[in-house]
Amino acid sequence: MKPIFQGKPPISFFRHKFHSQCSSINPQVVCNSTSSREEFITNILDRRWTLTNPDTKVHQINVSNLQTQHNPGLLGNVTFSNNSNPPLGENLTELHNNQSSFYIIRDDLLHPLVNGNKARKLDALLPLIEDHSGTDVVTCGGCQSAHTAAIAVCCAERGLKAHLLLRGEQPQILTGYTLISMLYGNVTYIPRSVYSNREEMLLSHADSISGTVVRLDDLLTTSFTIHKSTKSNFHNTRPSNLKKIVIVNEGAGDAIALPGLIRLVKYLSEDNKFGKNQPLKIVVDAGTGTTAVGLGIGALCLGLPWEITAVMLADTIEGYRKQEQHLISELCRCSGLPLMHTRLVHWVQRPRPRKFGNVLKGEVEACQQIARETGVLVDPVYTLAGWEVASQLSQEEGKGGAKVVMIHTGGTLGMFGLAQRYKSYF
Ligand SMILES: Cc1ncc(COP(=O)(O)O)c(C=O)c1O
Repeated sequence: MKPIFQGKPPISFFRHKFHSQCSSINPQVVCNSTSSREEFITNILDRRWTLTNPDTKVHQINVSNLQTQHNPGLLGNVTFSNNSNPPLGENLTELHNNQSSFYIIRDDLLHPLVNGNKARKLDALLPLIEDHSGTDVVTCGGCQSAHTAAIAVCCAERGLKAHLLLRGEQPQILTGYTLISMLYGNVTYIPRSVYSNREEMLLSHADSISGTVVRLDDLLTTSFTIHKSTKSNFHNTRPSNLKKIVIVNEGAGDAIALPGLIRLVKYLSEDNKFGKNQPLKIVVDAGTGTTAVGLGIGALCLGLPWEITAVMLADTIEGYRKQEQHLISELCRCSGLPLMHTRLVHWVQRPRPRKFGNVLKGEVEACQQIARETGVLVDPVYTLAGWEVASQLSQEEGKGGAKVVMIHTGGTLGMFGLAQRYKSYF
């Protein structure tokens, strides 16, 4: 079967329209027209979503320096406490007694299995597949992929069939996300040499399922032009014998992942949350960088004085900037987004850089300290990095810095896989 929707529709109309209204602000080129940005936001948010609402819990983590001489762990000589009901909106707290703190967006609490940035990235994606009468989804990931597990659960909840291609060999004992992937989806383990050519692998697997094959990328443009919240879900009107197989890239690092993040930014900028005038430093950990770029686009289009600080975990700064540029141009191409520049996100090194996925000595203890003192579970690969940077930046608020807000990107089931792999640390 051949993929359909191969051609890219002309968008030069939008390009001309918006370029002529844009002015250059180095290093960014942004559109000055508030009405165009508002139009874009309205257009992008007027769609069906996976999450019934964008709501999330906001907690505040107080960071206190310990007076007593103590053998400091990786997090320094500090202790944390959690205010799970902090004043927001008009009552957003001023700094009290030089008490450093940062807010944490508890997206890890959104769903027991599909949480954090997975819930946001799939927020617009699943309805798009349904609205194009998709029946099957093919995607891929590493052995402990939170993405494949999230796709499997979301598909099962909607009566879609998930085909998951996992890199490498089946582990002896299934745990964490691998276990969830197996329980909810149809897993095939793929030799690393074959997996290295993801595109070919995904297409050939999709072709082996009898039906019409579509790439998610190709549905994207239609999603910005005809996909509206009022549109009915015509999944049920499809002839029952006809399969439509949708290929979703690894990690859902596609532009369709961005609207869910923009929706989150809009929610957080409501007057009774952080409002639109409060300068904020938003801290997020970055794998592909898609989550950070989505937050950056949301902040820019809503005209918010927010800086997105993304902690780089898996690539070089050049790689992240390339991905940022790619996602922005994809969104521009499909939607006529009135911006066309590359520097929305402030990319920073994690405190202890290493090969992606590695755990270092002392990190499990740091996660343990955070869990015991605040009730928040972070993992050494992703969210510990965000926590450390948020904690460091929070100390600057007292010196006139902006308030710090960390996005909890979820992924805590990854701990089970790490415990299996790094036995000596647990
Ligand atoms: C828990 C967690 N945090 C962060 C990320 C990275 O997100 P992104 O690839 O959008 O940068 C991932 C992987 O997608 C993840 O599983």
